Parts: sequence; structure tokens; C-alpha cells
Amino acid sequence: MSATPKLCYIHTLEFESKAHVPMQAFLSRLKTGQAHIEAALQTALRPHLPELLWEAMAYSALDGGKRIRPVLMQLTTEALGADPALATPAACALELIHCYSLVHDDLPALDNDDWRRGRPSNHRQFGEATAILAGDALLTYAFELCTAPGPLSAEVRIVVAHEIARAAGPHGMCGGQMLDMQLDPRAPLGPDTLAHMYALKTGQLLRVAVRCGAIIGGATPAQLHALTTYAEQLGVAFQIIDDILDLTGTLDSLGKTPQKDVHQQKYTYPQVYGLEPAQEMGRACVKAALSALNEATLPAPEWLEAIAHYLTERQA
Ligand code: IPE
Ligand code: IPE
Ligand code: MG
Ligand code: MG
Ligand code: MG
Repeated sequence: MSATPKLCYIHTLEFESKAHVPMQAFLSRLKTGQAHIEAALQTALRPHLPELLWEAMAYSALDGGKRIRPVLMQLTTEALGADPALATPAACALELIHCYSLVHDDLPALDNDDWRRGRPSNHRQFGEATAILAGDALLTYAFELCTAPGPLSAEVRIVVAHEIARAAGPHGMCGGQMLDMQLDPRAPLGPDTLAHMYALKTGQLLRVAVRCGAIIGGATPAQLHALTTYAEQLGVAFQIIDDILDLTGTLDSLGKTPQKDVHQQKYTYPQVYGLEPAQEMGRACVKAALSALNEATLPAPEWLEAIAHYLTERQA
């Protein structure tokens, strides 16, 4: 395993675009979005005291990951004809929350994963106590960032912070992580159990990315409704693909331990339905997402269409 962090896995991706914009153009837009988020996070995570805490926060938040959630937020604002930079503080906040969720997800008490984004997971690098505190600090600091005075009105900042809090907490990602932890691999699986768990543990952070981007971009209630459906479908597809890659990828391609779900006897879409049917189910979710996107009648939906195709075909 190389020790070099993978800032972005997407540039090795090769597939035919089914979207209206060429995939190459989308990948280049994605790269610009990632660089923008990286720069904003670098500024936000300049070292302070206690040094070790900031170091551990920066370790898990900088130079890594696909930045899907913040980019999705900015692309949604842009699709409504507004300046994507307006969404930067909320987008960074959401990415910090995502990074915290990964730090805690990797802890021995949860998934016990040694690798993340091509390097040792936070607790392997800094020890468990610091990793727990770095996660806590990333989560709380996220709200400091997105509520601070800036170009958005105080009212919009409160709405956005409330959306993010709800998506990250017991109604959202944390609730989903709890269901994931409680799911007994020996007990029979209820018909909607997996879809519900995915909608919470992964779907909620993608959903809120789009909702915040839409709110900041001034979406009408009908557009917000359609975009929410788009994001919900994308969220489930995203976790189905994560599960498929867990089976088919390698430590080098994923930057995290492969076949983790099998070893931990987790219920996943490919394990329950088979690899091919799971792939089909992921594609069906993306199709439903695209149909909802169409209903949103946005001035510029092209990037949101392209990111849905990219997310289905991703290899990392
Ligand atoms: C991984 O998310 C965790 C899931 C919710 C499946 P990503 O695949 O977005 O991870 P990074 O941010 O690119 O590392
Ligand atoms: C989702 O699931 C993780 C979070 C909600 C943080 P996984 O446990 O499958 O994510 P990876 O595979 O470790 O990135
Ligand atoms: Mg997990
Ligand atoms: Mg995990
Ligand atoms: Mg996984």
C-alpha cells in the first residue's frame, strides 16, 4: 500500500458518458470543485492549539476523498443559476461531518478498519482517544463554520445548519450507523430494512448536500421537493456501489480495506441479492434520480445529471 494519500480517485475512471455533457468535461468540473473545497478546508484547518487535536482533524479532513457531498451541494446551487461559492461554508461543514463519520466508523468499536483514503485510519495514526476527540471536534467545528457571518443571511444560515444537524444526528447518519451496528447477520432481514438503513447512514448526508445547495440557490418548494427525491435515490445507489466495491475492489484502488463487509458478516445488497442484481438496483435508483431531476426543471441541470452517471460508474 502506498503511503501517498489519494486526493482524487476519479481521474483514472474511463467509461462512456450517458449524460448530455461529455464525462471528460464533468471530470474537469469535479476537479475544479474538489480543488475549491480543498483550499477552503486548508484555510479552515490551519493549526491551532492543542496542536495534536488540529493535526488529527487535518489528517482526516485534508488531501483525501472524492469530496462528493460538498461538490454536490455546490453543483446544486449552480444548477439553480446561483453562485456556487455561496455554498462554500456549508459545503465545507458537511465535508467535515462526513470526515468525522469516517473517523468514528473506522474505530475498533465500530468497523475496526486500519485504512482510510490510502493511509492508516485516524486511530491507527493517533490512538483511539485522539481519534474520538478529533471526530467530535470536526463535527462541532462544522457548525462553527456554517453559522459564522458570511454572504448568506442569518435566516438561511440557520435553516442550513438545522438541515445539516438533522441529517447528521439520530434522525440521520448516526441513526443509520446504529441500525447498521444492531443488524444481526443471523436474524432474518425485513423487506425494507437495508434500504432504510442505507437511506439514513449514507443517504442523509447526500440528501442534505442537495437540499442545502437548493436552499442556498433559491429553489422553489416544488424544485426542492424534486431535488430531494433525486438525492434520496442517489444516496441509496451510493451505498449499494460502496458495498459492491467493497467486494470487488482492492486496498490500493479503494484506499480502505476490501471485503470488510464479508469479514464482519454485514448484510449488504450484493450479499443479499447477488452482485449483478445489486448493480441493477443501483442503476434503477440512479434512473429514478434522473427522472426526479427532470421534474425539477432547473435552469442548468447538466452537472447534476453527469454526477449521477459518475456515481453509478465510479470505481473507488
Ligand atoms: C465512504 O464515502 C463512506 C460511505 C458513506 C459509503 P465516500 O466514498 O464518499 O468516501 P471519501 O470521502 O471519498 O473517502
Ligand atoms: C457507511 O458505511 C459509513 C458511514 C456512514 C460513516 P461503511 O462502513 O460501508 O463505509 P466504509 O466502507 O467504511 O467507507
Ligand atoms: Mg460502517
Ligand atoms: Mg466502514
Ligand atoms: Mg463500505
